[in-house]
Amino acid sequence: MLRDMLAEGIKFDLILTDPPYNLNKDFGNSSDKLPLPNFLDVTRERIEICRNLLTPNGSIVWFGIHSYIGFIQVIMYNAGLHYRRMNIWRYENGFSRTKTSPAAQYEPFLWYSKSPKKWTYNADDVRVPYKSAERLKNPVYYTGKNGERKEWTPNPNGALRGDIWEYPTLAGSLYKEERTDHPTQKPVSLFIDLIRAFCPKNEHGKYHGLILDPFHGSGTMGVCAEMLNQKGHDISWVGIEIEQRWCDIAQARLEQIK
Ligand SMILES: C[S@@+](CC[C@H](N)C(=O)[O-])C[C@H]1O[C@@H](n2cnc3c(N)ncnc32)[C@H](O)[C@@H]1O
Repeated sequence: MLRDMLAEGIKFDLILTDPPYNLNKDFGNSSDKLPLPNFLDVTRERIEICRNLLTPNGSIVWFGIHSYIGFIQVIMYNAGLHYRRMNIWRYENGFSRTKTSPAAQYEPFLWYSKSPKKWTYNADDVRVPYKSAERLKNPVYYTGKNGERKEWTPNPNGALRGDIWEYPTLAGSLYKEERTDHPTQKPVSLFIDLIRAFCPKNEHGKYHGLILDPFHGSGTMGVCAEMLNQKGHDISWVGIEIEQRWCDIAQARLEQIK
């Protein structure tokens, strides 16, 4: 499927994906249970094809797990992609009973761009609340480029965000409405903000681009793109999933939001 799109000359502005991490999860196939050398080989092949599917200013946002993310980072560099940032999706509501190591409270995700010079990052669209309301009560002064005294005022939309993205997992009764049977479904809150951060915009300030998720699972990327489109944005997207069961769930989610 990826090769077909390559042959047809289709190019994506953003590849946003959460591929199998090789953690032995049951997706209904063996894709998460490969011997490590095979996992690295297929990952290399996939990343190289994805690189060729990007527009000149396009980006890849690729989730992984702490144990293998170093390998994937090397693959990205070797593929000639340009490092922008290793981000952390942090959550505190995961579930673990293990006493042999600390409970996992994060998943890393890599952002690499095709070009070393141009990429999309909509910093103002993903601002976060200021940590200290107290500090904002007093003016803050700093020295400008020409030595002049300048006053800093807070942005009404919040602070520029950092590279730790805090969103709860879908564990527990609070998220039962959103949760499907897919074992590694990502939260809508997280994927919506990733699209807002990394999707290009048109001259009217609306998200306008073509996004690919080659491991679509229960369809979170497509659902988020359509939720944004309902607010007047213009995102086109392609989601690929090998298991019919997850495609059916994605379809049902999409129909529900329409
Ligand atoms: C980590 S899950 C993605 C979860 C998704 N982000 C969501 O929110 O539901 C990875 C998915 O990739 C699928 N998959 C594995 N190998 C694949 C392949 N060769 N082509 C397409 N999908 C594949 C698995 O069946 C699984 O549903």
